[in-house]
Amino acid sequence: MHAADDRDATNRAPLAAAGLVKRFGGVTAVAGVDLEVASGEVVGVIGPNGSGKSTLFNLIAGMLPLDEGRVWLDGREVTGLPAWRIARAGLARTFQIPSLFDNISVRDNLLAAAVEGDWKRAPQRADEVLALLEIGHVADNLASELSGGQQKLLEFGRVCMRDPRVVLLDEATAGVHPNIRRIMLEAIRRLREQGVTFLVIEHDMEMVREICDRIVVMDEGRIVVEGSFAAIADNVEVQRAYLGRQR
Ligand SMILES: Nc1ncnc2c1ncn2[C@@H]1O[C@H](COP(=O)(O)OP(=O)(O)O)[C@@H](O)[C@H]1O
Ligand SMILES: [Mg+2]
Repeated sequence: MHAADDRDATNRAPLAAAGLVKRFGGVTAVAGVDLEVASGEVVGVIGPNGSGKSTLFNLIAGMLPLDEGRVWLDGREVTGLPAWRIARAGLARTFQIPSLFDNISVRDNLLAAAVEGDWKRAPQRADEVLALLEIGHVADNLASELSGGQQKLLEFGRVCMRDPRVVLLDEATAGVHPNIRRIMLEAIRRLREQGVTFLVIEHDMEMVREICDRIVVMDEGRIVVEGSFAAIADNVEVQRAYLGRQR
């Protein structure tokens, strides 16, 4: 499949996916996921370990081939395109474990993430991102010298450098200091005000409550419940998914 078919003009959601399926041998990691995220919307993806959240991100970002399904960015089909082309189309992501260049500076890590062909604006953008994420004081340190939380901020900063339309965050605040969490929250809020769309995998329910407009709950590769924080918090299915089966 190629980026040939546009969706009809009424469906220009920044991110849409239909019928996504991914199997690993006998395991169906993603078993038919449909998803649509609006402009400026923050959607949380929660679910127990192994429920397919990271695989879903890899499918959307083009980092794993799909077995079935289609993906659109701003109504343009990106199904089957390589990850770098999907990135150029406006999608940026972080990884559960930060993927930084350890042996160059924080600032150079940001510059290296700049959008192709926009090198001129990159130094100024890097300064803005350093300020936004409050890491200006370590701009000249090596990435390897940062704390784990600061590395997560830098990973998020590399996403910001690309002025993305859609951002996928995989456990961006897991295990970080509350101060770093606050910085990340404020940055997400600011970007969303500018119309950036977020899909976030998050285990911290406090974080989910604070930033997510809508939550989808995954279990065994499927979306089992979807709704506001209040709506899902009391949901029996959610409690079963989290408490009924420890993996
Ligand atoms: N590269 C892979 N090869 C084989 N199995 C995988 C691979 N990635 C994920 N899986 C399996 O797919 C399922 C979903 O995994 P994952 O998407 O990482 O879940 P989550 O992010 O929700 O914890 C799990 O059973 C996992 O073991
Ligand atoms: Mg995961």
